[in-house]
Parts: sequence; C-alpha cells; structure tokens
Amino acid sequence: MCGIVGYIGKETNPQIGLEALKRLEYRGYDSAGMAVFNFEKKQIYCLKCVGRISNLEDKLSNSAIFGTPFIMHTRWATTGRVNEVNAHPHSDCKGNIWVVHNGIIENYQELKEELIKEGHRFVSETDTEVLSHLIEKYFKGNLEEAVRKALKEVKGTYALVIISREDPYKIVAASLSSPLLIGINGKEYLIASDPAAIVSYTKKIINLEDNEIATITPEKFFIFKEKVPQEIELEVEDIQKEGYSHFMLKEIMEQPRSLKHSQQGRILLEEGLAKLGGLEDVKDKLKEIKRLIIVACGTAYHAGLVGEYMLEEYAGIPVEVDFGSEFRYRKPILDENTALLAISQSGETADTIAALREAKRKGILTLGIVNVVGSTVSRETDAGVYNHAGPEIGVASTKAFTSQLEVLALLTLFLGRQREMSLVMGQRIAKEILKIPELVEKVLQTRSEVKKIAEKYKDAKNFLFIGRKYNYPIALEGALKLKEISYIHAEGYGAGEMKHGPLALIDKNFPTIAILTSDSVYKKTLSNAEEIKTREGPIIAIATEGNDEIKNITEDVIYIPKTLEMLTPILSVIPLQLFSYYMGVLKGYDVDKPRNLAKSVTVE
Ligand code: M6R
Repeated sequence: MCGIVGYIGKETNPQIGLEALKRLEYRGYDSAGMAVFNFEKKQIYCLKCVGRISNLEDKLSNSAIFGTPFIMHTRWATTGRVNEVNAHPHSDCKGNIWVVHNGIIENYQELKEELIKEGHRFVSETDTEVLSHLIEKYFKGNLEEAVRKALKEVKGTYALVIISREDPYKIVAASLSSPLLIGINGKEYLIASDPAAIVSYTKKIINLEDNEIATITPEKFFIFKEKVPQEIELEVEDIQKEGYSHFMLKEIMEQPRSLKHSQQGRILLEEGLAKLGGLEDVKDKLKEIKRLIIVACGTAYHAGLVGEYMLEEYAGIPVEVDFGSEFRYRKPILDENTALLAISQSGETADTIAALREAKRKGILTLGIVNVVGSTVSRETDAGVYNHAGPEIGVASTKAFTSQLEVLALLTLFLGRQREMSLVMGQRIAKEILKIPELVEKVLQTRSEVKKIAEKYKDAKNFLFIGRKYNYPIALEGALKLKEISYIHAEGYGAGEMKHGPLALIDKNFPTIAILTSDSVYKKTLSNAEEIKTREGPIIAIATEGNDEIKNITEDVIYIPKTLEMLTPILSVIPLQLFSYYMGVLKGYDVDKPRNLAKSVTVE
C-alpha cells in the first residue's frame, strides 16, 4: 500500500523519479506528491495532487521545479481523507523537513497532542505528519540524528524517506516492518519501496532491514551495518504490459508461462516426488506434523481452501484455513505437531504477517508460499516455497493464484509421499501437474467466447457463483474477482447450500455461474443447478469437454479440458478471471487499479 521513491545524484529533473513512481502506482493511487531541494534557491519545493500520478506530472511540467535530492509518494489513504493536504510529502512547521511514509503510526494521536502542546502546527489529518514535527523537535543540524531520536518515540510500522533544507545534501531512510530498498548506480541512488520502481535503473540493491536507518549522500551511503549488494531477479519486461491493454489481461494470458516457472525443477516423475528446496531443512520436522493451519487473506485465502481439500485427501493431514485477520485474534490451540502455512503473493499483507508472528510466538513451525522474493513473510517463516510466478502488477490477483494452487499441489505431493501416498499415485499427480501449463493454454483459447458472454450479461446487477468440493473455493474466488473489478454484487456459494437460503434470490434476472466439471461431485452439483433452472435462473456453466448434456439446462457453457480432480481449480478459475476482466472493461473501469483497493494491504 502506497509507493515511495527518493533520489539523490547528478540528475536534477524529478521526471526520472516520476517514471519510477508510476511503476508503484498499482500500490496506491488516491493522490501523489513530491518534494524537491533546489540548491540555487536553497529551498524545498513541494507539489501535490489528488488522483493519478499523471496529474502530478502535469503539475511538474507546468512548473520550473528541479533539483536533488527529491522524494515522492503515491498514496492509498488510511488515516485522513483523500485530498491534497493529506497527500505526502508532509513537512514540519517551517517547511524545512519533508517526509514520505508507508505504514501506520499507531500512537500518532498521543504524539500529536504532545507536539501541539509544544507549539507545533498541524495541517493534515494524517498520522505521517507527526513524524515531520517529531523530527523537527529533535533537529539540531544533523538529520539522521533527529530521525533516530524521533523514531524512538514511534509505535507502528514505517518505510520512511526524509530530506531537510538545513542538512540538504542527503536523504535519510528508515524501515520497520515495511519494505524499503536502496538502488545503487555509481554515485546515484534511487530509494524505493518496491524493486519494480528501480529495475530499469539498476539491479544493484540493498534492502533496509527492520530498525535500520540509512544516510545517503551523492558520495556514499551509510547504514549501521555494512551490507553487501544483492542482484534482484527481475527483468524490465516483467513489469511492462507487453502489448496488452491491461496488466490484468497480460497476467491472465501469461499463466502457462508462470505455471511452468512455478513447477520448473520441482517434479521427479519417476520417483513420483516433489523436490522443494525451501523445505529441505525442515523435512524431518514435516514428517511429524499432524495438523496444518493455513492463514491468508483474499484470493490467497481461497487458494488455502483448495489446499485444504488437496492435503486432506492426498496427504492425510488435517487442515484448518483461517483469514489472517481472524487468526490473529483467536486463541488457537497449537502443539508441537502443528505447523502454520502463510500464503501471500506480496509477502507483505499485514494480517497474514500478524498471524505468522502469533504462531512464531507460540513456538510452532512456520512455512510460507510467497511470490515476492525477500518479502517479510519469506524472511520470517522457518521455511517455504517461492511461487516464481513473476511480478503481479494488476491489483486483482490472477497468475499468483493459479501458481499458489500449483505449489499447493506440489506440497501435497511432497507431504503425501512422506506419508501414505503410493508411488503410483505420486507419479500420477506429478504427471498431471506437468501437463497443467499446456491445459491452461487451451482454456485461454476460450477468451473470445467468455468476452461474448460478458457482453450478454453486462447489465446484470447480481451474480451467484456455485461449486462444490475443490470448486467451492473457486466459486468464492469468481465472486471476489467480479466484485473487485466490475463493482457488480456477486456471491460465491457451496452449491449444496443454495436451498438453505440463496435460492430465494433466483429469478430470470439473477444469473448463476456454475462450476459443473465432470468430477466426484458432478451429479450433486448438477441437481443444484437444475433447482436454479426450475426457478428460471439463467446458468452459465464451466464444464468438462465432452459433456453435451449440460447444454440442456444452461444458457451458455465454457468448456475446460479434463485433468485430475484436485487440479481442476487451476483450469476452472481462468474463465472466471477473464469474465470479470471483460465485465470491468465493458463498464469502462480501470481494471488494473479498481477503486478503493491497493495491491498489497500493509495495514490492518
Ligand atoms: O499479497 P497477498 O496475497 O497476501 O494479498 C492478499 C489479498 O489482499 C489479495 O489476494 C486480494 O484479495 C486481491 N486483490 C484479490 O484479487
């Protein structure tokens, strides 16, 4: 949530910072701002706007602002409404010290009251503004000294980038539970909250760790600990649209590739095994595990629900799935034979991290399935598996979700083979996982049919999504995607629950998307669909190739190829992703940046 960029070096045109900031716009896009130090005038100039970064760009091109260092921010509002005053950067009373911030200052009310009593004047409703005043309070000519003292009083999370007119040729950066990195290109430094911002500028980065404060000047940077730069595994093409009109469509269409990457080098077909390097160190402990708790949020939670069916059916491990936001407030009963698995694309979701930390406090083994390399979840878990799905920029999670499902299938194979799963069953699962990228390619060929169905139903005000067993979580995911992207009310239900209430909603204007794949629960789901048909509800089916009888009760059918039942969700979700994408586009919405949302939810 929110994006930060800072620059110090020979370049004086802030436009290069804006190019980097635009790559972070998916993390927040309510408002944006920048502060630039002009060495001739010895002044810091600030520009802010409501809305997208392009508005800030317009303001910059109409001004004569230049200089270095500069700091920038794109905001997803948490504390304080969306307006220019609340946009970052925030300054102290005299406009000497300027701060951009990601995270939350939990004790800002107390600090603000104190500072007001001491004579500080606040202009915004934000928590961030207390930081600039607190730093002002301690400033005696050395910025990092003042930052260090100020942060001792702060409770919460932060990634901070700060400049000062009275200690001008430096940037001070600090981080606690919110990512921040320094990109190094000779004597130029680009500081950002996400590697996507700097990958076209340099691949040499230093990640700031918790409680570290860095001072960066054109000559050098200084952190408390001496650290060796790492190489980031990111290519510029990964964060470009490659000819697609939206990142969401690009990410849906690249799933054959992302799924190939997620399984690459991880399947031993002959032995019917999954080779998961990140679990090697804990493999003996995993043999002893008698119970697994999965924690996640949103789409990753739906992946966890599919994982529950896989792991219970094939690995014989009892699984419980909980929202990060609920687990953190429960009093879970945990013992030494329980492990916790956190699933997160970003690895930065605050509720998932809080649940993980709670489990660590209780001393149980913690695991992660994470896409972003080096993220908080990946650093704080005992062991885990990376998705290797590549960066996901669209706010709606698509390729990360299918990759999570694939990794869960690999984990099932890994844990299953440690237990009762036979060699033959292991080989069968391994063989089917290997085929997945090719089958996904085939499902993507339904793209134009799905688009026509979206055109037909674009005026519908409500949708139901139903499925059973492995496809129950897919019904939830289909509904979430549609809400998120097209702002249409949608409900996901276990098909068997229809007659316990939701059936009352059904009439000829209330369409249902039914996942009716040929599997162990097909007949049951079919009879639930028939009950809808009897009440004149239009049905759009996702069915298995070769099933012609389904046409008798449905308005429209999208066919997907046959696979092992536990892998069906990877295929059945794809038409639903495409459907929500086209519905959003037909309605004229910005599908990559849906209103009120942000890519990674780093606040509770
Ligand atoms: O980064 P995470 O996987 O932890 O994110 C969890 C959710 O915020 C995320 O999946 C969200 O629900 C998506 N926007 C859904 O498309």
